[in-house]
Amino acid sequence: MHTKVWKINSTNILDKDIHEAAEMLRAGDVVGFPTETVYGLGADATNETAVRKIFEAKGRPQDNPLIAHVASEEQLTELVTFIPDYVYKLIEAFSPGPLTYILPANEYCAQNVKAGLSTIGVRIPSHPVALALLQTAGKPVAAPSANVSGKPSPTSAKHVYDDLNGRIAGLIDGGQTGVGLESTVIDCTGEIPVILRPGGITKEQLELEAGAVMVDPGLAVSSVDRPKAPGMKYKHYAPEVPLYLFTGSNQALKDLVDKEKQAGNRVGVLVSDQTAEIFTEDTHIHKLGGTIEEIASSLYDGLRFFKQANVDKIICETFTEKGIGQAVMNRLRKAADSEIKK
Ligand code: TXA
Ligand code: MG
Repeated sequence: MHTKVWKINSTNILDKDIHEAAEMLRAGDVVGFPTETVYGLGADATNETAVRKIFEAKGRPQDNPLIAHVASEEQLTELVTFIPDYVYKLIEAFSPGPLTYILPANEYCAQNVKAGLSTIGVRIPSHPVALALLQTAGKPVAAPSANVSGKPSPTSAKHVYDDLNGRIAGLIDGGQTGVGLESTVIDCTGEIPVILRPGGITKEQLELEAGAVMVDPGLAVSSVDRPKAPGMKYKHYAPEVPLYLFTGSNQALKDLVDKEKQAGNRVGVLVSDQTAEIFTEDTHIHKLGGTIEEIASSLYDGLRFFKQANVDKIICETFTEKGIGQAVMNRLRKAADSEIKK
């Protein structure tokens, strides 16, 4: 299959390229597109055959449901049977934006979007290209992250192209995404929201609007409980070389890296700009940025970078768990082969 690529700066819904991409969606084909979190792989959520193509292109397990992306609150209400009051408050504060609501579903979307569940995840993305595409298509668009299953989510069109060229009909190149990690997924079927996946909107932000917020016990890595978001049970975001997470002093980190180098191992080191300064020039480091927001935004690119850089192992330092740091550390723990504490 030829993958048509549109390079786009315009976010005008009258734009010819947006129209072409929206037409592809309406015709039942699969299109990659940028959102403010990561690139999505979209298909008409009301068309079962179209949605099946997403699972095939990604090699995604059939029991992992997809998020339906919509352009407005009004469109969101069409897909669900009930919306608790706190969700209206959250919509007011955070949508469009990186927040996904799990709500009781009606029959509007195809069954395979929900993977057999009675609920559906709905999100209004804030990226202008995503919004223009959704408005033009005029349909809810089912879209997981546009990576091959098990790989880090794509934060640039190049990542999508590397994974899926020839397996999807179209790809809108809208440049780098912003947040760089996926949306926060919250279960809104109970009295209070429950975070199933930390992401672009933090627990602290949610609490300011909705009051009490719970975190799914299945999120604790050591927990044996089955996570409620089916996607959270898979080893995710993993680069193909082993990843070690390091907690300890900068000196201990440097000693470890030196020891690895002396043993003849090619080590890639993923660190903040500040930590990068302790290493000598011959160390293979990749800087993730100076703030936790920058680190979130460049994390997946860093994981992909070392996959192509011919290293035997990646050592990554751990970061703050405050704010978006909670999502950063959640993704790193899921990607890591082991943790080293010194
Ligand atoms: O930022 C994002 O959310 C990106 C962009 C493209 O919007 N999308 C994304 O989709 O990350 P995906 O499919 O890679 O992750 C969706 C997560 C999975 O963990 C899935 O199991 C969970 O949301 N999920 C979807 N529907 C659900 C449902 N009805 N109940 C519980 N979890 C659900
Ligand atoms: Mg994903």
